[in-house]
Amino acid sequence: MTTALLTPAEPAAGAPVARRVLTGDRPTGPLHLGHYFGTLQNRVRLQHQGAELFVVVADYQVITDRDIADRLAEHSEGLVIDYLATGLDPDRATIFAHSAVPALNQLLLPFLSLVSVAELSRNPTVKDEIAHSRQAAVSGLMFTYPVHQAADILFCKADQVPVGQDQLPHLEVARTVARRFNERYGARGPVFPEPRALLSATPLLLGTDGTKMSKSRGNAIPLAADEDTTARLIRGARTDAERRITYDPATRPGVAGLLQLAALCQGRAPEQVAEELGDGGAAALKRTVTESVNEHLRPIRARRAELAADRGHIRQVLRAGAERANAVADATLGEVRTAMGSVGSD
Ligand code: TRP
Repeated sequence: MTTALLTPAEPAAGAPVARRVLTGDRPTGPLHLGHYFGTLQNRVRLQHQGAELFVVVADYQVITDRDIADRLAEHSEGLVIDYLATGLDPDRATIFAHSAVPALNQLLLPFLSLVSVAELSRNPTVKDEIAHSRQAAVSGLMFTYPVHQAADILFCKADQVPVGQDQLPHLEVARTVARRFNERYGARGPVFPEPRALLSATPLLLGTDGTKMSKSRGNAIPLAADEDTTARLIRGARTDAERRITYDPATRPGVAGLLQLAALCQGRAPEQVAEELGDGGAAALKRTVTESVNEHLRPIRARRAELAADRGHIRQVLRAGAERANAVADATLGEVRTAMGSVGSD
């Protein structure tokens, strides 16, 4: 597995790094601060560095671990609103829903032939999702969606994929599919690049209960929350009775999570924030965190509210993204059919 760390550094002056980046999210609910500091900020940074961004609203992936995609349109549009509010430029980035790109989905067929059932069953992220699934029975899609995700990545020949740690097994599937396709059908040259994972430099963000911030754990602070809700969520965070505030993730995960949040918003080290709070206790810590988060998110939330008021514009962004993605996917599928020697439509 080839991975690289995304560093917060700005690019060298006048030297944009040209590369194609694909990433995306499942439209299952509002994005939260974990997404924002973990991936959304990095995407905007890559955009500023001159990367060509493809961002997939992974709507077919919603039905991997649940039977029905609840409020799919609302959640999909919500993702787009969050993307634009945090700084993605729809004129430069291609934002699309993968169900709107037929040729992308058609890549799944040849790709499935390149992986074994044993490989699909070994995927640790899939195993974990099965353990936490809301379904009575495990569907075939649960085992095969990483190959569909490979189609998300390979249809546009992305060479870099910003993801969290849990997505590394899926990146490995995409790399395997690309390599095997090229070996089997690439007599006239490779069709697909082997994509690399870009791991975020931000450490795992902790939620209000001191464990990983996650929608499903009910410990997340949504980007779209209002200031009072943010205050209430932070007030309810789990801390301890010790008055002296110290940054100690191993023994004081609740306090450390809050310090980390304030630090990220203030652009400082968590130890520094702790130092300043001294013997202030949990109440002062929570006040500082609430102020930092609300202040940092204020412009983003204002932009979010403007964007949310114009659904027509959001749908137009998705339509334009789908049009661009379809053109790219059609071209790639054409290459795949040629490489495989398919006939019938040419
Ligand atoms: N599996 C990712 C998640 O659950 C979403 C996703 C779908 C994705 N397709 C992708 C991420 C392609 C990176 C690249 O968050």
